[in-house]
Amino acid sequence: MDTLKISANIIKCVHSELNLEEKEWIKAACDATYRSYSPYSGFRVGAAMVLEGSIVLTGSNQENAAYPSGMCAERTVLFYANSLHPDLRVEALIVAAADGDGFTDNPVSPCGSCRQVLLECEVRFGYPVRVYLYGKSGIYIISSARDLLPLAFDSF
Ligand code: THU
Repeated sequence: MDTLKISANIIKCVHSELNLEEKEWIKAACDATYRSYSPYSGFRVGAAMVLEGSIVLTGSNQENAAYPSGMCAERTVLFYANSLHPDLRVEALIVAAADGDGFTDNPVSPCGSCRQVLLECEVRFGYPVRVYLYGKSGIYIISSARDLLPLAFDSF
């Protein structure tokens, strides 16, 4: 019997270490939290997506009285991006979240369904999606969505 060890490199940095472009992406994700519709959880999530050609789109979580009908910010922006620009590869996803006390101290990480959808996006375009997770106390940067989903279910 063997034990498989699966690891991922996650860069942790602070806002001042980002370049100008990255700071703009973070701002876009933070701004998107204000467009969240989250009356049930009170948890506002914003996501920005960078497509080739430096196109930046945003989305936010959209909730519903029938809870499962809501949608996370990450998939909202990803499906929006892919339906607007099906031929443009996705280069980065940036996520920020806020509750009643403002932006979270620690980064918020995408749920399992969002990871699966992101992974398919990488496979579809044959290009890694860099993920930035914003928190006031630090920012995580993951170089590929695949690192967020070990032993992922891939195409069959
Ligand atoms: N949510 C997101 O939009 N993205 C995440 O990565 C985690 C959770 C949303 C779903 C729901 O509207 C609210 O946050 C509370 O779970």
